[in-house]
Amino acid sequence: MSRKFFVGGNWKMNGDKKSLGELINTLNSAKISGDVDVVCGAPTIYLDFARSKLDAKIGVAAQNCYKVAKGAFTGEISPAMIKDCGVEWVILGHSERRHVFGESDELIGQKVAHALESGLGVIACIGEKLDEREAGITEKVVFAQTKAIADNVKDWSKVVLAYEPVWAIGTGKTASPQQAQEVHDKLRQWMKTNVSEAVANSVRIIYGGSVTGGTCKELGSQKDVDGFLVGGASLKPEFVDIINARA
Ligand code: G3H
Repeated sequence: MSRKFFVGGNWKMNGDKKSLGELINTLNSAKISGDVDVVCGAPTIYLDFARSKLDAKIGVAAQNCYKVAKGAFTGEISPAMIKDCGVEWVILGHSERRHVFGESDELIGQKVAHALESGLGVIACIGEKLDEREAGITEKVVFAQTKAIADNVKDWSKVVLAYEPVWAIGTGKTASPQQAQEVHDKLRQWMKTNVSEAVANSVRIIYGGSVTGGTCKELGSQKDVDGFLVGGASLKPEFVDIINARA
């Protein structure tokens, strides 16, 4: 089954209107293959800016949202607000949300449920830490994280699963194509057993962790790697090369 390549850029807490405006101009004028979905994850305060400046062919994602529509939750944003800015996606469960801000599987599951009910697409992130990989429990960790997400998904067509080993994020230590393929394959098998064969075949599983213009082609040629979630390199012109990794 052919799955459309998906490349997300996660700008994290970087940039200002000047630098992001320049990046947006680069993306808008770049030659982008028609066979790829591109989504840029902007800081909350720049969601409106990014959506208004980026070409319509490039999606925008929030980097987080809360689990309810409104209320006394100082500092949070809701899926309804994200949609009100014309933004179509949200990144949930990113490792920095899990490990810097202490978000639990349970909270991430609740956020996934509410974001989907509200009509957003969700880039749902999972991934093991270095000590977990070294202890041989990568599968156990990513399966548990995936279950907490899957229990809250009714429509998988609106979900992209991002496998991001924590030890590869921002470290320059990209997972090898074989390491990425192995986990993606296991995740697809998990989906087959626990969700359905149709979803296992259709859901896009993307890889994140120090993806660069130099590493993207071989990673992107793996059978079960359906794209990338890119941090640092998404702020540079080489993001265009990553977008076109399969072109
Ligand atoms: O969401 C993106 C990931 O955290 C990867 O970040 O490409 O800077 O390693 P990175």
